[in-house]
Amino acid sequence: MPVAATQETALTEHAAPHLAMPGPILLLGAPGAGKGTQSKVLMSAWEIPQISTGDILRGLRNDPEKSVTPLGQQVCTAMDSGKLVSDALVEQLVLDRLAQQDTARGYVLDGFPRTLAQATWLDAQLAQQRPQVSSSLPVIAVMVQVSYTTLMRRTTGRRTCPSCSRGYNVFFQPPKNDSLCDVDATELVQRPDDTEAVFAERLRTYDSLTTPVVEHYRALGRFAEVDGGQAMDVVTHRVMDAIVRLRS
Ligand code: AP5
Repeated sequence: MPVAATQETALTEHAAPHLAMPGPILLLGAPGAGKGTQSKVLMSAWEIPQISTGDILRGLRNDPEKSVTPLGQQVCTAMDSGKLVSDALVEQLVLDRLAQQDTARGYVLDGFPRTLAQATWLDAQLAQQRPQVSSSLPVIAVMVQVSYTTLMRRTTGRRTCPSCSRGYNVFFQPPKNDSLCDVDATELVQRPDDTEAVFAERLRTYDSLTTPVVEHYRALGRFAEVDGGQAMDVVTHRVMDAIVRLRS
């Protein structure tokens, strides 16, 4: 999700350590941990793409033609209830995206893999070193750890301007004027899965299906854990330092 302009400024001013070849980077963490926020900073600092399966699926969900197909309906149902979309569909989307030229120096996978099956699939793709799955460097994983209370406030408080994409949070960074965007006075919207009930289900899904993925990469090594409960630029420092260390 987009971050507010003031936050973006602070983040992009962060002096990024040099990393010629970032390779494949996984950002792991619960809903609202800051995977998307930090991925965007890495993308801009190291000129590599952010591949967010959540964003790709939201694109499909919001497409008036695709969303009414049986597949589109499956995606809507899963996302709106806090469950996962099928492994096969997400894997195909990731494979298509990794085949694009801009992944040659590396990429940040945000929100994938989310099941052990997806992790095994990804490991196998990378091990084959097929030309279309670029960068032969081993995958590194950074887990962004945030407390339950903070996760809940970050997600259920999140609002976005549908017109300019500026992000707000009703708890931490409310708009000046009720529920209107400070920039263009458009009515802010809430992600359908950011309600308290769906957030609780997303967290349950994370605990049962994605925690084993974290343990999988921890056991493989090339893994770091970062405290994501700090200010955004502090988290950025820690994530970047961890990546550079894991790549050295
Ligand atoms: P997805 O979009 O990936 O959602 P998520 O993992 O639940 O993550 P969020 O986007 O809510 O949080 P985030 O960790 O990216 O944090 P963010 O940076 O946005 O997935 C949505 C759905 O798609 C899934 O539920 C599932 O149905 C489906 N799906 C996706 N991938 C799938 C897969 N692989 N397999 C199957 N199904 C899949 O930050 C959150 C908020 O906090 C923002 O407002 C931000 O500004 C704020 N914030 C971030 N960092 C900080 C900080 N340090 N301090 C203060 N505020 C902060």
